Amino acid sequence: MKLVIANWKMNHLRRDAEAFCATLLASYKPVEGVVAGIAPPYPLLPVLARLCAGSPVRLYAQNAHAEARGAYTGEVSMAQIQDAGCTAVLLGHSERRQYCAETEATLLPKIKAACAQGLLPMLCIGETLAQRDANETLDVLRRQLAILPEAAPESLAIAYEPVWAIGTGRVATVAQIAEVHAFIRKELTTLLGAAGAEVPILYGGSVTPDNFAEIMRVPHVAGGLVGGASLDASKFLKLLEIAGA
Ligand code: PGA
Repeated sequence: MKLVIANWKMNHLRRDAEAFCATLLASYKPVEGVVAGIAPPYPLLPVLARLCAGSPVRLYAQNAHAEARGAYTGEVSMAQIQDAGCTAVLLGHSERRQYCAETEATLLPKIKAACAQGLLPMLCIGETLAQRDANETLDVLRRQLAILPEAAPESLAIAYEPVWAIGTGRVATVAQIAEVHAFIRKELTTLLGAAGAEVPILYGGSVTPDNFAEIMRVPHVAGGLVGGASLDASKFLKLLEIAGA
């Protein structure tokens, strides 16, 4: 299975979502085995759920809280994102690790809560430039993946996003992506056994319609988690077309 997931981050208003969906749904031709997903800001989830109803486009949340309910001002539960139309949730995006103190300790209960709720977690992992320069990339990724067996995820996806490639226009080289994706596959089979061979591993970081075909040809790359380029419906359509080619 291949996935192209639009991570809108803190972008777009309702009118933008409406224009995006009008363009997307007018031309989108779903291809067997290619999943299109959109991860909008929370307030747009019900809007997109309505606009995409009857289409195969899946809704992702960008995060959710591990607790089921309670006094957590400003937080949103797994049940609430599901109620708003999500079937999946991004967890551990590097911007949340950087700005919101997300760590392996906070992510483990979130993965468990997502699975318990029947949501598909997409765990985002990646090294900073300092970690890459210090030759720590594989150690960092190993540590970030190590929470998986404890969570026993039913149906999981991984997004490898080198932090230095996110929003910078500096995409990782094919050789770098190939090395890391092969490493992640090996780790997943060590951690999860045979199930680890099936987990989709996406690449993210300055993906555009111009570089995506080359990235998709790299072994073990099963799609893209796309920020900037995914804000534009025609670019998102192009990415979906490339994934389905
Ligand atoms: P980018 O963001 O495509 O703008 O680099 C990717 C992401 O953060 O998921």
